[in-house]
Amino acid sequence: MKNNSQSFACPNCHSALEFKIEQFVCQNCKNIFPIDGNIPDLLLRNQKDGGESLINRASHFDDLSKVYGSSLWGGSPRIIVWLLTRKIRNKDGIGLDVACGTGVVARPMAKKINYVYGVDISMGMVQKADDLSKKNTINNISFARCDSENLPFGDNSFDFVSCSGALHAFPNAEKSLREMQRVLKIGGVLAIMALLEKSIPSVIDPARRELRKSSTKEETIEFNKAISSMEKLDVKLHRFTLNELKMIINKLGFKNFKHLKFGPIIIFSVER
Ligand SMILES: C[S@@+](CC[C@H](N)C(=O)[O-])C[C@H]1O[C@@H](n2cnc3c(N)ncnc32)[C@H](O)[C@@H]1O
Ligand SMILES: [Zn+2]
Repeated sequence: MKNNSQSFACPNCHSALEFKIEQFVCQNCKNIFPIDGNIPDLLLRNQKDGGESLINRASHFDDLSKVYGSSLWGGSPRIIVWLLTRKIRNKDGIGLDVACGTGVVARPMAKKINYVYGVDISMGMVQKADDLSKKNTINNISFARCDSENLPFGDNSFDFVSCSGALHAFPNAEKSLREMQRVLKIGGVLAIMALLEKSIPSVIDPARRELRKSSTKEETIEFNKAISSMEKLDVKLHRFTLNELKMIINKLGFKNFKHLKFGPIIIFSVER
């Protein structure tokens, strides 16, 4: 029977959370966090993100979650999932997938490590991830909503942390990487897939063609809604250069940088 000794902590002060009917309360700073269905909502409500509130930002990813993981708007391809999760060393350890989306990386990870946490800014994404895990009877996995800049875990919690297809969309990649470093154990491994400076393949146009061929009216409406929502969000995908990534990694003091590049994609791992 798999179990986890880790649990969610306050994203503000990292102290223990106390469960009180349908909400968590921080025992230290007294912040209150609702539980939506069975998913803890650990987003710090008072934080601003480039003038737009995190909730508003998250709502665009909620629109995307309706089509995400379908043939119209895929998650990380299987080869990427394999390349990331092969970096897991301690199969008895605990893993975290940051910006987990619908759980495309977190679910296979749960087969390779004792327990997995998946977190994402979008409640729609984590709810879908939770449903899919239950459907696949994966029970060594828990999801929560939070921001990558305020992870709801104590220091030195994880043996392995992954983040696929999201670093280039974060408003401040360095801040998010610093958080991932904080929650990693000393000697723990961080594995990332991100986009490099080069033309970004459009996921939208091939998907539109697919949509015309085979989709129902409802699917077409959801897809168009997701596109217009992402356009409103105006995610400026940051195109990293290899040197820029190396500079951030060095500045943060990560060790043992290893990377693979193909096309506009980089997969890299570092150790704390
Ligand atoms: C392209 S999807 C990748 C999902 C998944 N990792 C995969 O590989 O399929 C990007 C994800 O990043 C999440 N995201 C964006 N900004 C975030 C933030 N600041 N904190 C946490 N998650 C965030 C989005 O909600 C979305 O699920
Ligand atoms: Zn607190």
